[in-house]
Amino acid sequence: MKKIAMLVGSLRKESFSRKAAESLIALAPESLKLAIVEIAELQMYNQDLDENPPVTWTSFRDKIREYDGFIFVTPEYNRSVPAVLKNALDVGSRPYGKSVWNGKPGAVVSVSPGPIGGFGANHHLRQTLAYLNVPAMAQPEAYVGGAAALVDAEGRIADESRRLSLRKFLIEFEVWVGRNAD
Ligand code: FNR
Repeated sequence: MKKIAMLVGSLRKESFSRKAAESLIALAPESLKLAIVEIAELQMYNQDLDENPPVTWTSFRDKIREYDGFIFVTPEYNRSVPAVLKNALDVGSRPYGKSVWNGKPGAVVSVSPGPIGGFGANHHLRQTLAYLNVPAMAQPEAYVGGAAALVDAEGRIADESRRLSLRKFLIEFEVWVGRNAD
């Protein structure tokens, strides 16, 4: 069993990204245990605080260390990654040399009500993950467009072909984690 942390790049109550992340939990193969790790309370990263870091930072870092891999479920803000998600990546990356991300496998799911499915955010995030030494699964990709209709009233992926493609994404991620996790 591998524990996978999902980080959601939206704080909105009715967030499509959060709904997408929640729907992935039920779709995951048995050997992957997915859970959302909250990032809303993290103070904005400030290098001055490194010597005496806020508890929100240290408990987040400790929590992330418990996981074997990550799925980043992100909206797109101005063709990039929302600040709240970038902040979580920055907080986890410090102190220098003690990054909690280092070497653990990841995957990106970008979500948008628009037709492009957050392509810009997806690829900006991959740039940061490359630097953080998080091997990000290249294929299959997950650009979830038209996200307003993604889930039904029970929180399940409404469209069967989408459900199948996200299920395939998770099955391939299981293989990716097996190859890249300790
Ligand atoms: C957006 N939105 C947006 N959508 C998109 O496809 N590409 C973009 O570049 C942007 N840019 C953007 C900037 C800002 C500041 C906001 C608030 C919104 C729209 C966005 O996709 C929409 O609000 C989603 O509902 C946000 O995701 P959640 O909160 O539903 O997960």
